[in-house]
Amino acid sequence: MRTTINQIKDMKQKGEKIVMLTAYDYSTAKVVDEAGVPLILVGDSLGMVVLGYESTIPVTMEEMLHHTRAVVRGTKQAMVIGDMPFMTYHVSVDDALRNAARFIQEGGAQAIKLEGGVTVAEKVRRIVECGIPVMGHIGLTPQSIHQLGGYKIQGKTSDAAANMLKDARALAEAGAFAIVLETVPTPLATLITQKINIPTIGIGAGIGCDGQVQIINDILGSFTDFVPKHAKQYARLADIIRNAVTEYYNEVKAGSFPTDKQSFSMDESVLAELK
Ligand code: KIV
Repeated sequence: MRTTINQIKDMKQKGEKIVMLTAYDYSTAKVVDEAGVPLILVGDSLGMVVLGYESTIPVTMEEMLHHTRAVVRGTKQAMVIGDMPFMTYHVSVDDALRNAARFIQEGGAQAIKLEGGVTVAEKVRRIVECGIPVMGHIGLTPQSIHQLGGYKIQGKTSDAAANMLKDARALAEAGAFAIVLETVPTPLATLITQKINIPTIGIGAGIGCDGQVQIINDILGSFTDFVPKHAKQYARLADIIRNAVTEYYNEVKAGSFPTDKQSFSMDESVLAELK
């Protein structure tokens, strides 16, 4: 049985921290699922850390669905959340409903995530009414990066902080089951967490949130373009991969790979007939 939204909401009530990670492929998702992580986000960060785009903006529905299906195949216990890409929920409620439904029907996800607060609240309400769990995302919303003027900390002025609280309330009232707070000062994220009755999941939003989310490539050290301030590297996979590839390269060049252990034999008499 996969994690349910009620279990996630209960965790807030019990003061139990919620762990969430991204994953984009079958093998990684399987390990994350086996480690017991209850929420796996197929984030549109896929665009940057897997597909090599400069931002999340070029990511398409088809790319998201392709990777969501792989993550779903690799998981048994986690709730898999599909991230709605740029402009797949902005134009109309109909678009938002149809694309959210594609994540569930074609992708096999159990929930979707979308960016925005008050401005998307009506769409959240309608998606939830159709039986699709929605996770909100406010603070730094990378799909609006050109409007925000860069990857900057959000909510630092009193107007911006008040608006963020309004956004969080609007999402909770519309029926979202949790909200990601990205790049928000710790005291503001803590206040929002105290003021709303659904869990907050922070990324660069400090220790006062109900849970934390990280991009798996950041915590594993496999994405080398830059290390965001909010990320802690628990491993340096890029170094491990580089060393392994170099060793393989050197062994092939030296003729010391493969050995008998990685090779297959056959009956000598079959070979003799050919000769
Ligand atoms: O796309 C993503 O991975 C996200 C996380 C940063 C929450 O939205």
